[in-house]
Amino acid sequence: MLRLDTRFLPGFAEDLRANLLLLQEARERLLAKRGQKGAMLGWIDLPEDTETVREIRRFRTANPWVEDFVLLGIGGSALGPKALEAAFNQSGVRFRYVDHVEPEPIRKLLKTLDPAKTLVNAISKSGATAETLAGLLVFLDWLKAHLGEAWRRHLVVTTDPKGGALRALAEREGLTAFAIPEEVGGRFSVLSPVGLLPLAFAGADLDALLMGARKANEQALAPLEESLPLKTALLHHLHRHLPMTVFMVYSERLKHLPAWFVQLHDESLGKVDREGRRVGTTALPALGPQDQHAQVQLFREGPLDKLLTLVIPESPEEDLPLPPAAELPEAGYLFGKTLFRLLKAEAEATYQALAEAGQRVYALYLSQVSPYAVGWLLQHLMWQTAFLGELWGVNAFDQPGVELGKRLTRAFLEGEG
Ligand code: PA5
Repeated sequence: MLRLDTRFLPGFAEDLRANLLLLQEARERLLAKRGQKGAMLGWIDLPEDTETVREIRRFRTANPWVEDFVLLGIGGSALGPKALEAAFNQSGVRFRYVDHVEPEPIRKLLKTLDPAKTLVNAISKSGATAETLAGLLVFLDWLKAHLGEAWRRHLVVTTDPKGGALRALAEREGLTAFAIPEEVGGRFSVLSPVGLLPLAFAGADLDALLMGARKANEQALAPLEESLPLKTALLHHLHRHLPMTVFMVYSERLKHLPAWFVQLHDESLGKVDREGRRVGTTALPALGPQDQHAQVQLFREGPLDKLLTLVIPESPEEDLPLPPAAELPEAGYLFGKTLFRLLKAEAEATYQALAEAGQRVYALYLSQVSPYAVGWLLQHLMWQTAFLGELWGVNAFDQPGVELGKRLTRAFLEGEG
């Protein structure tokens, strides 16, 4: 379950009432594009796709030998699986992310892996991303050198249903290939095989994850005053004059979630709008409690130029009591408490301290760090982003700046001969 708390933004209920028409129009504009080719709204339907889940489960069951799962992908093709796997891996399969092109860590990784027990998953919607193709070249060579003809069983691709280099490779070589639906873009693809295949190997509860995401869909389409993603989109819209938005998560298991959100928010909304104006707010990742000992000083006493979102779990799955120790009387205030109680106290203290300092801050309470609640949160944030795209007059689903970078890199290398 996901719950919005705006106790430190007292005027928000009136703001919501005053902006109902604006929200209604934004939602209608977005939903009117549903089903249109190129609108890239296919992510809305992913939580309903039970056939793909079955297919993924069959593949997982057919490959019980996997001990190391190497994910080759970058941006939307890596950040979502990384965030979820870190939270929900209970299979013992080790995950290695090659979402970079630094030679030393890749050389080191190759030395530690047993090719016979390694599955490589190359993920790329376009099938044309230099980092992923480079990683694939290295791993293809390594698999072939160690396994001969058997290499094909150790490489699975997740890519566009029809086009691109990875699809062509899979067809030529008879590899297993999972499809990222045509109408689903990179940073909106976490609930497609991009995230679900790695998570199946991690032993995560895919049904609960998708059930949570369906709840977010329900909420997005709920009557205006009850629609959670419309409300959080409005919070961001009302604070669009503040240049930064902090996404701070109080969960070690969700430590990679802020990076996923930063990509979703920045790449979707940092754009030139239809009037030719540059729009967007800069998302900053933060983690509690670690950043209480780093960024929170600035958040508390630095410029009042941020909207902060705190993601706070309400209960633990399994708590750990803090036993008394006669040798350490200075820690007496902790005796008899639990680790989760401490975490919660830290989150609440930060929430209050930031509000009292004059920062604009709200909280999203997660019932637990469970697949259900996190699936809900992810889909909620995708809706929030899509609604903000409408409110800010930008296409939240393209990324011309990113594509320019890809073209320039290629031109650079081609120019070198
Ligand atoms: O959100 C996006 O579309 C991008 O960030 C992509 O995820 C990223 O550039 C990787 O692209 P691809 O999946 O085509 O390799």
